[in-house]
Amino acid sequence: MWGEGDTTVEITIRPAVVGDAAAIAAVKDAVWPEETSEPGRIARVIACGEHTSFIAEYGGQVVGFVDSFTTYSPMETARWEVDLLAVHPDQQGRGIGRALVSAASQSGHESGATFARALIQTHNTASQRVFARCGYRSDGVARDLYVATRGVAIPQPVFQDTNLIEVRTFNYNGLWVEGHLTIDSLSRALTRLAANSHEYGLAGVLISSCDAALTEAAMSLGYTLVAAFHWWRRDFDD
Ligand SMILES: CC(C)(COP(=O)(O)OP(=O)(O)OC[C@H]1O[C@@H](n2cnc3c(N)ncnc32)[C@H](O)[C@@H]1OP(=O)(O)O)[C@@H](O)C(=O)NCCC(=O)NCCS
Repeated sequence: MWGEGDTTVEITIRPAVVGDAAAIAAVKDAVWPEETSEPGRIARVIACGEHTSFIAEYGGQVVGFVDSFTTYSPMETARWEVDLLAVHPDQQGRGIGRALVSAASQSGHESGATFARALIQTHNTASQRVFARCGYRSDGVARDLYVATRGVAIPQPVFQDTNLIEVRTFNYNGLWVEGHLTIDSLSRALTRLAANSHEYGLAGVLISSCDAALTEAAMSLGYTLVAAFHWWRRDFDD
């Protein structure tokens, strides 16, 4: 709660509903003006029932949001993905980001997930600080995110112990390549992308910044570098 002159204005954190989609898109566009948000996509994600999204309201306006959902690791461990967090530029630095991540983390704990995690760009000090204040720790391993948006219909390679994790977010429907990363697993994702281009818009993979051979393989297949990230993680076994 903040006092502004004679008026006391409260910040409210509450679960997002479908009717918030346009306001979430407006905050998203204010934070990332180079992207174009689709309120319809955001509405569908909220409506699907598999995500927990929160919004922050201040003076009756939506000023921030966070989305989160469960994925399963190749070993079937339930993970709570805190996927997208944003606070309107006019309202940053007032504790809203921290309140949103705290709410999303609590939901993850209640969901029964083993841990929560977030992928944060290595230079995003504000987000790192928010997650650190909410009990998350970085593993300190820099990983480059590579993304391919065009599938390739190539002969199906022999299956390796990798997983293609389907994800639907406020930004995209896609496939994350996880597990034992090889050129075959990266190719497999592109094959599935080509076969399901109406369903998925991209395939993404995190490659250790030290793995020159896999990086080269990814680029040769058409994956392009987005940025370097760290995983930030909070275990729920405490
Ligand atoms: C990251 C973001 C959501 C943080 O929200 P916020 O409401 O401004 O953050 P808070 O006010 O809750 O701050 C929490 C902590 O982070 C610190 N912090 C906030 N912005 C900071 C900055 N730019 N640099 C350093 N620390 C910062 C605060 O001082 C506070 O630390 P404290 O508790 O030790 O005092 C917001 O800056 C944002 O929307 N950024 C652009 C989008 C983005 O990067 N999203 C995250 C993608 S992973």
